[in-house]
Amino acid sequence: MGLTSGINNHDALRLFELIKLAFRYTFKLDFQPSMWKYISTPTFRKMMSVLDESLEVAQRLLKETQDTLEKRRQAGEEINSNSMLQRMMKVDPKLATIMSLDTMFAGVDATSNLLSAVLLCLAKNPEKQGKLREELLNIMPTKDSPLNEETMKDMPYLRAVIKEALRTYPNGLGNFRVCPTDVTLSGYNVPKGSIVVLGSNALLQDNSLYSEAEKFLPERWLRDPETGKKTPFNAFSFLPFGFGPRMCIGKRLVDLEIETSVAKLIRNFQVEFNYDASRPFKTFFFMEPAIPFRFKFTDIEH
Ligand code: HEM
Repeated sequence: MGLTSGINNHDALRLFELIKLAFRYTFKLDFQPSMWKYISTPTFRKMMSVLDESLEVAQRLLKETQDTLEKRRQAGEEINSNSMLQRMMKVDPKLATIMSLDTMFAGVDATSNLLSAVLLCLAKNPEKQGKLREELLNIMPTKDSPLNEETMKDMPYLRAVIKEALRTYPNGLGNFRVCPTDVTLSGYNVPKGSIVVLGSNALLQDNSLYSEAEKFLPERWLRDPETGKKTPFNAFSFLPFGFGPRMCIGKRLVDLEIETSVAKLIRNFQVEFNYDASRPFKTFFFMEPAIPFRFKFTDIEH
């Protein structure tokens, strides 16, 4: 199977499909009642075959990447041998494969869902989209204005929009932890070893924590222009990337990817979504699109 680039890369497309299936089966096996720990159920066998195929695809993609790099090196090109992949390959090719797969599993759907969520929120709230464009036009006055570390420092409204989209359409059910000791939570004795879910999904829609929770209000994340103060909120109710030593390792990558994509798209296009969006996502283990995201993009003239 040859490595074709862009959206026609067969292996990449298959990997995306496998990731979706793995999340669905995880939901069935680990969130719904299942006997898989005692007998090999049909879903368990499907999960094993999805994981086996994912490993095969990842190994093939990594080998192709290694071969391409080797060819370029032999052709005299200077290759960055300090890249994370190169360094991991030297330590242990197995580790490199597993880390690459983990990164794909954890990152692909979450990031694309967030981009769809941000665009949907802005399409359904044109006034907020206009306000964001105003901020972006100041930073990128022309279509070819560069977006770099310096210019991206001053984009508070963009960051507030992304936070509010994460609040409106959280990526999953919440945060999970296994209790290392017996604990008492709100009067309930929770024994050591129990899985505890901090159900952010519900907290983020709670009016006592977020006033007018049903509204898309990026302003809630900004300092009050008059007092200069931020609206206080319970930091543990909003943990889209988790917390502590096991928090998301991809957060900075996501920040960069989403901020640049949204900035460029909204700077250059008016985004509309002219269909029903009352239930755009469904949640299994993670959320996934429940409708096709057929956005309409219209060029901004200047
Ligand atoms: C919008 C995008 C993303 C969201 C909302 C997100 C969210 C999360 C959350 C909530 C966790 C669990 C953290 C915890 O339990 O404290 C997590 C873990 C993780 N994420 Fe992400 N993530 C995103 C994208 C990515 C990307 C792009 C990558 C890879 C480059 C990635 C790699 C990981 C890994 C490897 C873990 C497991 C960390 C560990 O268990 O030590 N994530 N993510």
